[in-house]
Amino acid sequence: MRTLGLVLVAALAISGCFGVDRNNFKTCEQSGFCKRLRALKPEKSQYVLNLDTVIVHGNVLSAEVNTMDYEGDKKVVLWHYALRLSALVDGTFRIEIDEADPLYPRYRTQLALDGEPAADGLRLASNENGKLTLINTQGHKVVITADPLKFEFLNQKGEVAVVVNENSQLFVEPLRVRKERVDDEDGQALDVEDESAWSENFKTHHDRKPRGNEAVSVDVSFPDADHVYGIPQHTDRFFLKTTTDGEPYRLYNLDVFEYELDSRMAIYGAVPVMYAHGSSRSAGVFWHNSAETWVDVVNYAEGNVVSSLVNLVTGGQKRKVDARFMSESGIVDVFVLLGDRPADVFRQYTRLTGAAPLPPKFSLAYHQSRWNYVDEADVRSVDENFDAHDIPADVIWLDIEYTDRKKYFTWDPEKFPRPAEMVANLTAKGRKLVVIIDPHIKREAGYFVHEDAQDNSYYVKDKDGKDYDGWCWPGSSSYLDFFNPAASKYYAERYRFENFPGTSKDVHFWNDMNEPSVFSGPEITMPKDNRHYAPPVDGADGLSSFWEHRHVHNEYGLWHIRATKQGAMDRTNGKYRAFILTRATFAGTQRYAAVWTGDNMAEWGHLAATVPMCLSLGAAGISHCGADVGGFFKYPESELMTRWYQAGAFQPFFRAHSHIETKRREPWLYEPATTALLRDANRRRYALIDFWYTLFYEHSIDGLPVMRPLWQEFPEERDTYAIDDQYLLGDKLLVRPVTEPGVSSVKVYLPGKDARVLWYDVDTYKMIPAQGYLNQDVNIAKIPVYQRGGSVVPRKERVRRSSALMADDPYTLVVALDHNNTATGTLYIDDGETTDYTDSQYIYAKITYEPSAMTYSFDSRKSPHNSEFLSGFIFVNENAHFPTRSWLERIVIAGIKTPPKTAKLHQEEKQTALQMTLHKGNDVLVVRKPGASMAKPWKITFSY
Ligand code: GLC
Repeated sequence: MRTLGLVLVAALAISGCFGVDRNNFKTCEQSGFCKRLRALKPEKSQYVLNLDTVIVHGNVLSAEVNTMDYEGDKKVVLWHYALRLSALVDGTFRIEIDEADPLYPRYRTQLALDGEPAADGLRLASNENGKLTLINTQGHKVVITADPLKFEFLNQKGEVAVVVNENSQLFVEPLRVRKERVDDEDGQALDVEDESAWSENFKTHHDRKPRGNEAVSVDVSFPDADHVYGIPQHTDRFFLKTTTDGEPYRLYNLDVFEYELDSRMAIYGAVPVMYAHGSSRSAGVFWHNSAETWVDVVNYAEGNVVSSLVNLVTGGQKRKVDARFMSESGIVDVFVLLGDRPADVFRQYTRLTGAAPLPPKFSLAYHQSRWNYVDEADVRSVDENFDAHDIPADVIWLDIEYTDRKKYFTWDPEKFPRPAEMVANLTAKGRKLVVIIDPHIKREAGYFVHEDAQDNSYYVKDKDGKDYDGWCWPGSSSYLDFFNPAASKYYAERYRFENFPGTSKDVHFWNDMNEPSVFSGPEITMPKDNRHYAPPVDGADGLSSFWEHRHVHNEYGLWHIRATKQGAMDRTNGKYRAFILTRATFAGTQRYAAVWTGDNMAEWGHLAATVPMCLSLGAAGISHCGADVGGFFKYPESELMTRWYQAGAFQPFFRAHSHIETKRREPWLYEPATTALLRDANRRRYALIDFWYTLFYEHSIDGLPVMRPLWQEFPEERDTYAIDDQYLLGDKLLVRPVTEPGVSSVKVYLPGKDARVLWYDVDTYKMIPAQGYLNQDVNIAKIPVYQRGGSVVPRKERVRRSSALMADDPYTLVVALDHNNTATGTLYIDDGETTDYTDSQYIYAKITYEPSAMTYSFDSRKSPHNSEFLSGFIFVNENAHFPTRSWLERIVIAGIKTPPKTAKLHQEEKQTALQMTLHKGNDVLVVRKPGASMAKPWKITFSY
């Protein structure tokens, strides 16, 4: 009965017509450790470093840390801890604090890091007056105060950039044995254990907490910072707000039905990295922990009670942000990123957790999804309608209904009897198919995955060690335990063509519900006292022989997509790149998958929220981000749909998707004027497809966000710090999507005042004379996008059905001149789908424009590639080549003041005189049909 009740509640939640049901999710008060730790405000830290135990060896300082207390005048040691401080390359340090001798091993997050971080040198420069000073090879310093323990991190200029434990909130709850009840003679308990340390309840759910309390926390201060950013996923602004007036930001992967906006509630993803930025510097911390986490923020420059008090005391506007990370379990493991420019901290983070490897090109084009395209005829008709309406599209998606009654790796035999034919029909036009595969497995006798998982013990176990049985789309379901290498291997093998008939290299995967979502579970996820596989260790038994779900929760989805990626690559022996989309995220997700922001709504606020949400994920390493275009729930009327396509066309992952109960809304189902606008938005995406592809190639090399906050490129410009309704693509295009209804103009901020940066409207090539705020007129067709002066952007102007069919199309290069009449850009070209680029089969061209000449040359930098699927691969550009048939069709030079009289193309031995046209009013010069092959370097010389 109880299960039935829960299922009914869950079913209501799924089909309900209200907003988020907050009662389903914990507040900090309701989360035992959050309440406990938040209440803890010691005046002085109890943690003291024992100076006699300090050893510096290689890049690591190790020492004993103790918690101390006073018994009268006598200092006594309460507990022993082990500290490791390591110096890592690229201005990064790591602090690890574990119990010296824990009762059971404490969980160390396993998959977030892209391998062991590379070591830097570390030298103990001084040890006096209770302070240690350490220096890395780049001149960053760490000053450790022993009593009470405090870490100050100094940048190369000697400024304190990050302080750890300034607010005495470093804390590691020691594991202990539950005390036996001892009664006095009258049967009254003498020493009563606090029951909440050993179990917790939430609604009807009981958490057994067999190891007791084991929380950890640390506080981090960022002197001089104006704001902190990061710790996605939330629906709040990009910059984080002071939380003392309410809930902390929560990081706990959850399937939140009808999530609300401007909220610090947890949703599907959790990436515990935070960046601080101000005009002096950027810095960051990465809290390496996969358990439930809450984060408090105090921004002293914000106009609230706390800061006014501080300002009163300090006598002025103090710029500083403090943060505190609190996690339910694990160890204290914090990486300090010393910047000190924004790009440095972003890179320092992806250096630890990896950059996304180059995605297949189609994944950067337009995707058409719906829950559900109901059968093969439906798929065919959607596919044909794109052609009939001249709208480019690369991918059609199938949601859960394609399966044989929610059994993944099968097809509904009635509705999808001939999947291979269906796929062949798509691939004939260069299109692909993506199918959904969720991690829950239907518990049905005869279903091979279920039987294999049961027989081989591949499922996550419940608190008693039995296969955990929860409720999800298929009804009664169990969840694969990807922590078990055999289960992950088994799962990866399901993706082989022979194991999933009907699929081919052109079928890719969507991993949803991997928080994991459990309709019958606490907070719609798995009970925390569920058990996961831990590698067998001699002598480990009982609580040491498995990990509880509480330890690994935020990492579960990462293990899922890792197995999927492994399988999807292995099925072609690594020949073809695989595309995966995931809903749950954690640190490191970018190595395996793209991400979307889940079940949003067809509302203007949700459209606006796509920008801060993807900015935040992008800064946290996950550049391939998008939102359901049009909104998942509800129906977008024409104006909202138009603005959403226009916004989506300029966001990294561009997919329309909708709920099964909403009205159909493929682009041709709107009135012709709207269809035309949607077509136009898609075409703009396709025209820039090689620009996007180049940006993602560059991300794979430098680890920087593709979609960037303005302050990444203009770190000193304070006006940009709170802007999160516009962004940059690479360092070249500035996008300010229209996310408000019925407007005829929008406010746009064009940065670069001091640097005298010029901006050009991409529709008119007109230079905008002033920097700072401007009012941009917007009719319904207008997408405010600006090209930065000094940049070159590649375009392809011919309209085709899919990006694959555009492969050999000619290029237009748009040159936007800076104050010195120069510009530079890049272009990456390869076959778009194989891993041959790891074997030098590509072109990475540098394009430079100067008044005397424009050149297209092959750059020769080397970079290590840091994906485990392409490990050890080194880009050696000298030998790189790709026999592209594309040629140069046109060069558009915007902002030209003195037009040249002649232009001559030089390629190999040939020289050709070129034709030019000047468009006076706009100062735009068009070099017509240069005709150069893009497979070889070329040069165009100009004379005046
Ligand atoms: C989840 C996903 C949504 C999908 C649905 C059915 O709600 O977020 O995108 O359509 O499940 O699979």
